[in-house]
Amino acid sequence: MNLPQAAALLRSARRVVIMTGAGVSAESGIPTFRDAQTGHWARFRPEDLASPEAYWKGPELVWDWYAGRYRDVMAAAPNRGHTLLAELERRKLAEYGESAFTLVTQNVDGLHLRAGSLPPLELHGNLTHGRCEACERVQPLPGPASFIPPPTCNVCRSRMRPNVVWFGELLPEEVLAAAQFAFERAEVALIIGTSSQVYPAAALADLTLQRGGAVIEINPDTTPLTRRATLSLRTTAGEGLAALMDASP
Ligand code: OAD
Repeated sequence: MNLPQAAALLRSARRVVIMTGAGVSAESGIPTFRDAQTGHWARFRPEDLASPEAYWKGPELVWDWYAGRYRDVMAAAPNRGHTLLAELERRKLAEYGESAFTLVTQNVDGLHLRAGSLPPLELHGNLTHGRCEACERVQPLPGPASFIPPPTCNVCRSRMRPNVVWFGELLPEEVLAAAQFAFERAEVALIIGTSSQVYPAAALADLTLQRGGAVIEINPDTTPLTRRATLSLRTTAGEGLAALMDASP
C-alpha cells in the first residue's frame, strides 16, 4: 500500500482506531518515556520511579518526580499531531456516527483532551489526576502553581497516589476491553509515535490485521511493528498525519 492509497482508505473508512504513544507529544517538547530521565533524575531508571515498590519505599521521591512531569505537561501545548487527530475525529463522527472513531493512548499527559479530542481511552492512566489510596476516588490535582505533593483526597483526606499504571500493574480492565473491541472492528488502525514494545498495548494492532484491516504506522524510527504494518511512514506524527489527511481526494 502506498501513501495515496492509505489516504483514500482513511478517507472512506467507517471505523478508524488510533493508538498514540510518547512520540505524539515529542513535538510539544515532552520527552518520550525512554528519554525522560534528565538532570537530577538521570540516576534513576524509570522502573525505580514508576513502580508500586518504588512508591511504597519512597512516596515523596516518586511524587516529586510526578509533580515535575505534571508541571512540564501543563506548561506544554498540544501540537499539530494532536490537533489533526481531533480534526479527524470530528470528521469521522460527523460522517459516520459515534462508532466511527476511537482514540486510544498510552500517554498520561492529557494533551489529546486539551487539543479538543473527546476523552480518549487512556491505557496507562493520566498524571493530571491522583487516586485515593484508601477510597480509590480519582480527582484532578490542584493547579500546577499551587500543587505541593503529596495530594490528599477531598473526601476522606487520605493520601492520593498518581493515577497512572506502573510497571508490574494491570491495565484498567474496561479500558483495555474497549480498546480491543475497537481494534477488532477497525478498517484502519493508525499507530503513531509508539515504540510498540510495551504489552498489551503493542498487541492491539494485530487484532486489526487478523480481521483484514489495514495498519498504518507513523514513526521516525522502525519498530517491531514496522514489518507487519500495511504501511509505515518514516516521519513525525504531525508530518505523517498531515500527509495522510491532505493527500485524501
Ligand atoms: P517510547 O518512549 O518507548 O517510544 C516513543 C516512540 O516515539 C519511539 O518509537 C520514537 O521513535 C517515536 N517518536 C519520537 N519522536 C516522534 C515524533 N516526533 N513523532 C512520532 N514518533 C516519534 O514511548 P511509548 O511507546 O509510548 O508505560 O512507551 C509506551 C509505554 O512505555 C509508556 O506508556 C510507559 C512505558 O513503559 C507506562 O508508563 C505503563
